[in-house]
Amino acid sequence: MHTDTLPQHVPLLIDGQWIETPERVPACNPFTGRSDFSVCECSDELLDRALAAANAAKAAIAAMPARDRAVLLRQAAQGIRRHSASIARTMAIETGKPVADGLTEVLRSAETFELSAQEAVRIEGAQIPMDSSAIGAGKLGVSLRFPVGVVAAITPFNAPVNLTAHKLGPAWAAGNAVVLKPSPQSALTICRLAEVLLEAGIPAGWLQVVQGDRAAARLVAAPQVDFVSFTGSSRIGERVKATSGLKRVALELGGNGFTVVAADAPLEEAAQACARNSMRLAGQSCISVQNVLVHRSLYEAFTARVAEIVQALRVGDPLDERTEVGPVISAHAARRIQGLIDGAVAAGAKRVCGGSHAGALVHPTVLADVPWHCEAMQGEVFGPVVLLAPFDDVRQVFDLVNAGPFGLQAGIYTQSLPLAMQAVRTLRMGAVIVNGTSTWRSDQAPYGGVKASGIGREGPRFAIQDMTEERFVVFNV
Ligand code: SIN
Repeated sequence: MHTDTLPQHVPLLIDGQWIETPERVPACNPFTGRSDFSVCECSDELLDRALAAANAAKAAIAAMPARDRAVLLRQAAQGIRRHSASIARTMAIETGKPVADGLTEVLRSAETFELSAQEAVRIEGAQIPMDSSAIGAGKLGVSLRFPVGVVAAITPFNAPVNLTAHKLGPAWAAGNAVVLKPSPQSALTICRLAEVLLEAGIPAGWLQVVQGDRAAARLVAAPQVDFVSFTGSSRIGERVKATSGLKRVALELGGNGFTVVAADAPLEEAAQACARNSMRLAGQSCISVQNVLVHRSLYEAFTARVAEIVQALRVGDPLDERTEVGPVISAHAARRIQGLIDGAVAAGAKRVCGGSHAGALVHPTVLADVPWHCEAMQGEVFGPVVLLAPFDDVRQVFDLVNAGPFGLQAGIYTQSLPLAMQAVRTLRMGAVIVNGTSTWRSDQAPYGGVKASGIGREGPRFAIQDMTEERFVVFNV
């Protein structure tokens, strides 16, 4: 299988074999609206084969010296760098992500594998001071870490390559086998990634790629799976948690991208960052700037400047290297986003620019005076839409943010260290970015949320903790 030229059918990967199945779902290029290929669905029997292959491989992966696993992870990074242009191009065609942004993501994913290689040789246990209690006297106690076995990884369409790297890298660094179920809307891109990984030397049993909703549901519940790592919507995340039994899970879910612009904020810097970070990837990132709350003294000037920057963005063909905002993932998603825009306007918001769509292309939209309780502000728009509202008292803003459903990341612009520290102490978030927007991530950092934004932290060092289990050993000596 070679996907440099697009295949007609995206196959499954089981134990190093590419497998086409007769049940297929058509895939649609979001920019052209054409359906040029289809994605093979995984039958029950093939899922059982994928689980068996992962289980057969896990002992050898676990037994491989960490330094050898690190070598393979570095080879994976090199392979990705070598093929970065073709992976980014496939992603642009399949998901509508502008090719320049795709390239940035692919190069980040190579770094995620490098970071995983570094962490593979740092998985440490601990000596427990047994003589601190009478019952432990004369004993040696050590806590060791072992791979969990088989990791089920379920990944989304919006940053398909790097978010997949954030599951494969740590899982392999820790010594596990993986069964991966990517979004059907990025199946081709992941197929290309898998091909590059195999060519780079990743052994056959380390990675199985399956497709289809039924396979996903069976995978989550399967007794042969030891850990489920899911990235996607809060709604599906809840279902994963409810159906995974007693397995441990990591859930990286939604957010609604709050950024607070205080009265002493640098207006131009904050406006630039909020405008660009709300529109980047057409707003399809869990940490996209969505809700921007601006001190009333800056509000009018800030709104005008954000609208000016947004209107100057180049919108269009994701294969054009100059494009800054491409289509959203589908015309269906664009209609959902349109409904949220219309709902906010009906609730009293002012349309400053944009506010309409054509096919999957949502025109970059700035809404002002957005009422706090409208569906768009409380939910996750996941589109190129920024919602602005003024505030007078920053403490009320913190209370309102905390009362909302999500807790992924928030940004605050202020020159006041006490105010920044108040935000850090008060906001229940996975991360608070001081003098930056909610849209900030560096791949070595802990990443994840609280409340409806999820459970657990990604970032190779943190994911490895989840993907290994602790075993306490007592030596009676
Ligand atoms: C996401 O969680 O939506 C992607 C964020 C990122 O890795 O930049």
